[in-house]
Formats: sequence, C-alpha cells, structure tokens
Amino acid sequence: MNTIIKALQWRYATKKFDAQKKLSEGQIDAMLEALRLAPSSFGIQPWKFVVVNNPATREQLKAAAWNQTQVTDASHFIVITVPSVPDESLVDAHLASMKKDNPSIDDAKLGAHEKTMKGFMKMKTSDALKAWVRNQAYIALGVVLTAAAAEKIDACPMEGFDSAKFDEILNFKSRGLESVVCVALGFRSAEDTHANEPKSRFAKEDVIVEIN
Ligand SMILES: Cc1cc2nc3c(=O)[nH]c(=O)nc-3n(C[C@H](O)[C@H](O)[C@H](O)COP(=O)(O)O)c2cc1C
Repeated sequence: MNTIIKALQWRYATKKFDAQKKLSEGQIDAMLEALRLAPSSFGIQPWKFVVVNNPATREQLKAAAWNQTQVTDASHFIVITVPSVPDESLVDAHLASMKKDNPSIDDAKLGAHEKTMKGFMKMKTSDALKAWVRNQAYIALGVVLTAAAAEKIDACPMEGFDSAKFDEILNFKSRGLESVVCVALGFRSAEDTHANEPKSRFAKEDVIVEIN
C-alpha cells in the first residue's frame, strides 16, 4: 500500500524530459503491457495504443501540441486512440478474444454477454457511444501513469493537442481511429523545475465523502 502511495507522491506531470535518456526494452514492454491490461467497461478494450517512434513525425505532432517539448524529448510518445465510429464489431472482437483465452468458456454465457453488451450499445445515441469509448481511454491512461510511477519512470499525460491535426498527421482516418489522449514516457531532465514543486491536492476532507 505504502509503496504505491509513495510512487504516486513521487510522480508528477513531467514538463521537461532528458532527451538522452531512453526506457530500456523491458521498461517500455512493461508500460505497453500495463496499457494492454487496463480494465474497461465490459472488458470491451475499444483502443489502440499508437507508439510514435519516428522523430520527424514527432516534430510535426509537437507543432500540433502547442510546442510542448514532451512530444519530442520523451523516450516514448504514445497516443491512446478509439474507433471514430464505435460499433458492434467491438463486441464481436471482444467475444472472440474471450473464446481464444478460455476455449472451454460456456457458449450460453458468452451469448448472454453478447446480448447484454449489444443491448447496452443500442440504447446509446452515437454521441453517447463515442463518449463511452473515449472514457475507457482515460482508464488506460490512469493505469499506465500508475505503472510508470511504480517503476520510477517519468510520464506526462497530455490532452493539450489539436486532435484533428494529430489524426491527420498520423493518418488515423484510414484506420478508423481518433486520438483521445497521449502519454509521454521517459526520464525527467535535471532542469525540470516542476519536479521540485510540492504536490498540490485538495485535502482528504474536501474530496472524500462518507455516507454512513
Ligand atoms: C487528461 C490529462 C491531460 C493533461 N494534459 C497535459 C498537457 O497537455 N500538458 C501538460 O504539461 N500537462 C498535462 N496534464 C498534467 C496536469 O496538468 C497535471 O497532472 C496536474 O496539474 C496535476 O499535477 P501532477 O500530475 O504533477 O501531480 C494533463 C493531465 C491529465 C490527467
């Protein structure tokens, strides 16, 4: 318990990364695995995690992200995306994956799960459906931020970008994807003064409400 709280106190949204320091293969693999293992509503996993390695592309993205240097200086830059038009194929893919991971799964159970999920999706307007899949992206973000902190890897969650421009630069339209939120991963620069700022959070009594 204390380990994770200490890690959360240690972490901060890194503003300036040391461009020379890279995550090891093991470290980036662990971060990608944390994303993959993130929970989602019904387990639907409506995401693709796009790791942008090309430095020239990252320069273009930086220009579309108010020139935030994390985009180019971090060791790794990941765009969390969801389908631009979420539909029932998400459910079909999820059911197929459940069957693959557990071949002896009860087909009746799977069928009931399918009915519930498809019924849930049908009840939603297309805007609500979009909002629902986008919400899932933030769960993955939270998981990777926590995992990074636990591994003493610095990170910056990033919403400060022009998503239409990102989608264009990364050619997401052709893949049926749209960007939601990003995460830069790497190691803080010694010059990042934000690292030494005290953490500012509301007091426990301001945010925890107990109903007895
Ligand atoms: C969804 C989300 C988007 C954010 N976008 C940016 C961003 O574009 N650039 C940035 O420097 N920080 C960004 N932040 C960092 C927040 O400003 C930061 O987490 C918050 O001020 C709390 O500080 P701490 O994370 O250092 O404790 C974002 C945080 C979240 C959760």
